[in-house]
Amino acid sequence: MTKEKFTPLAHEIFTLKQQLNAVILAHNYQVPEIQDVADFVGDSLGLAQQAAKTNADVIVFCGVHFMAETAKILNPNKIVVLPDKDAGCSLEESCPAPALAKLQATNPNFWTIAYINCSAAVKALCDVIVTSGNAEKIVNAAPKDRDLLFVPDENLGQWVMEQTGRPMTLWKGNCYAHVEFQREQVLAAKRQFPDAKIIVHPESLREVRELADAVCSTEKMITYCKTNSAKRFVIVTESGIIHRMQKECPDKEFLCAPVFNAMKLPTDGCRCSECKFMKMNTLEKVRDCMKNLAPRVELPPEIIQRARLPIERMLEISAR
Ligand code: 13P
Ligand code: SF4
Repeated sequence: MTKEKFTPLAHEIFTLKQQLNAVILAHNYQVPEIQDVADFVGDSLGLAQQAAKTNADVIVFCGVHFMAETAKILNPNKIVVLPDKDAGCSLEESCPAPALAKLQATNPNFWTIAYINCSAAVKALCDVIVTSGNAEKIVNAAPKDRDLLFVPDENLGQWVMEQTGRPMTLWKGNCYAHVEFQREQVLAAKRQFPDAKIIVHPESLREVRELADAVCSTEKMITYCKTNSAKRFVIVTESGIIHRMQKECPDKEFLCAPVFNAMKLPTDGCRCSECKFMKMNTLEKVRDCMKNLAPRVELPPEIIQRARLPIERMLEISAR
């Protein structure tokens, strides 16, 4: 998009960005107007990699709280702001650090693998972090003589077990939005569009993943759609991702859950294609957090120190 197409609010954000020497990082689920002002838009792995290498003084993190925390852990001396401090995640909520510590105490041979969708306090208790983009690789690299404990997403954990053949004890958390996608919806879309490829996020239920042509992270979904010769794709994840897909593949068609609704396919009227946490961020809030340098992510130094190791281990294994 050329700069002339931007609104006055977007221009205000560009000015603040220069004044602050800030970088704007946005997740693939953010609303289009936030994605369009960001320096980088990507999945959790790409965002962590960008945070690890930025030279900016201020990181404006447009995603959810655990993602901004990860950026802070990697940049303890930088200012990290986020548009809405209440942008949480149902996976993070499902796994409080004291409950995890209690389970870990039952088996000293546990090797704890945490999906990045967890709090800094949980990361500080873990051996390695994964994202949906590198979970298979990282679980394959886990020590063979340890009992693997995977937290907090049971569905992603199940999928990784299927891919790697490594048994794992699974924490019983889930993404409230992805578990709403129903097998019947996807089957009906398959019947209506037999030429379409079905792309599913691994946080979805197994019965839905089984219908997929590809199960992958949001960034890998975009790569799949760009490189696959199909012209139509059914996207089983948060609908914010459609903006980038349409931008990067203008000649292809993407069907997401709102389309299922329009087609009067069975949906129970749910809004499962929207993460209420990701959608708390607005362009106004992005401007305000830059103007006020608040809300800001602050973490106790001992948590930063302990949580950094498993994140760095993840980045190192990912780069191999
Ligand atoms: P990705 O890392 O695949 O973008 O997933 C993040 C997320 O929160 C999915 O719900
Ligand atoms: Fe968390 Fe699910 Fe929202 Fe992702 S989509 S941030 S996993 S609640």
